Amino acid sequence: MPGIVLVGAQWGDEGKGKITDMLAEGVDMVVRYQGGSNAGHTVKVDNEEYILHLIPSGILYKDKICIIGDDVVVDPKTLIDEMDQLMARGVCLDNLRISGNAHLVMPYHKTLDKFEEELKGKHKLGTTGRGIGPAYVDKMARVGLRFNDLFDREEFIGRLGHTLKYKNLILREIFKHEGFETDVIAEEYLAYGDRLKKYVSDTSILIHNALREEKFVLFEGAQGTLLDVTHGTYPYVTSSHPVAGGACVGAGVGPTKISRVLGITKAYTTRVGEGPFPTEQINEVGELMRKKGGEYGATTGRPRRCGWLDALLLRYSARINGMSALAMTKLDVLDEFDTIKVCVGYKVGNEVISEFTTDFRKLRECTPVYEDLPGWKTDTSHVKDYRDLPEAAQNYVKYIERIIKTPISIISVGPRRAQTVILRKFV
Ligand code: IMP
Repeated sequence: MPGIVLVGAQWGDEGKGKITDMLAEGVDMVVRYQGGSNAGHTVKVDNEEYILHLIPSGILYKDKICIIGDDVVVDPKTLIDEMDQLMARGVCLDNLRISGNAHLVMPYHKTLDKFEEELKGKHKLGTTGRGIGPAYVDKMARVGLRFNDLFDREEFIGRLGHTLKYKNLILREIFKHEGFETDVIAEEYLAYGDRLKKYVSDTSILIHNALREEKFVLFEGAQGTLLDVTHGTYPYVTSSHPVAGGACVGAGVGPTKISRVLGITKAYTTRVGEGPFPTEQINEVGELMRKKGGEYGATTGRPRRCGWLDALLLRYSARINGMSALAMTKLDVLDEFDTIKVCVGYKVGNEVISEFTTDFRKLRECTPVYEDLPGWKTDTSHVKDYRDLPEAAQNYVKYIERIIKTPISIISVGPRRAQTVILRKFV
């Protein structure tokens, strides 16, 4: 049975939570492989809405093993709050597992995230303020603390004290902050360790065994391809690897174990935070998308920037991820438009380019070249069968498949599980 990666094809918020939740029904294990509580997955089941930041949405099914993988950075307090909220609503967490290699987001990471953003002034990234960048910096600088460290009291206090020496120097000297006490943080975090210990294990072995037993494992990325620290619109990116390749490093599996990659795209484009966005619509078009699509961040509540679908970006994303198929979400958000635009080129100076570039200067300066497609002006939110979609909506889907050269397997026309159209079998 396959290992399948589910990846955001744009700048995040593509509706991965809903698609994971939908596919999770048929899988044995769901693995989150990167990012932290900067993510926010909204899942609607019947009339209940769940917003998950760290725990894979497969947890809403009783029999799925849900893993927080090696390359996730975990704020244990946020995780415990999320667990408590789920348990209060009757969700069982016995199947949750956390990698001992996952790094801890510490209080100083969150403080530094905010100060560093302020210091950047007009060059700020618009981070979620969840300490993600500073936590990954410490991981790479080899001064991070991991879940497994929580179970060796002396070692934890010693290493934390060492790290705090220079963190406090930066906080006090540069940012005029009072700094942090080793004892206070240590006691708080060691208590989190006591609470979470029973969930912590060697998750790479669990995944390996599941795949060897022909089980179906879904690797769930957070954020999106264009926020990848290497392949995204650097520096306006997150600090991890949301791309499909990130699943191998982030979960501890070899590339030969991944058999399919499903990209998730909205029928249009959104972005939160700073950075270039060629097809952004700062006008009534963008307003309508935001209003109809409920485009406000699940983590920070920030209004999302909205714009037309960018075919260059999607084709790039299909390439970087080795995408086998696409799921297109929120098609219903386009129901009211007379004309729907798709960006098919960027005009940079006198030249029109047809391949995406990660050079943020070109992206910032380019003028998008659009292809106009007729809208369908019909409510599609109740459609369950592809043949019942208005012809213009079918043409839109076929057009995107043709220019992205990737089949669209799933179309979502609303937040509920039932509001999904399956075009072709993906697995
Ligand atoms: P950070 O991940 O908090 O460091 O933020 C870096 C950039 O990634 C900012 O532009 C954020 O708005 C963006 N970002 C981080 N997480 C998400 C997400 O889950 N969805 C959309 N954008 C995100």
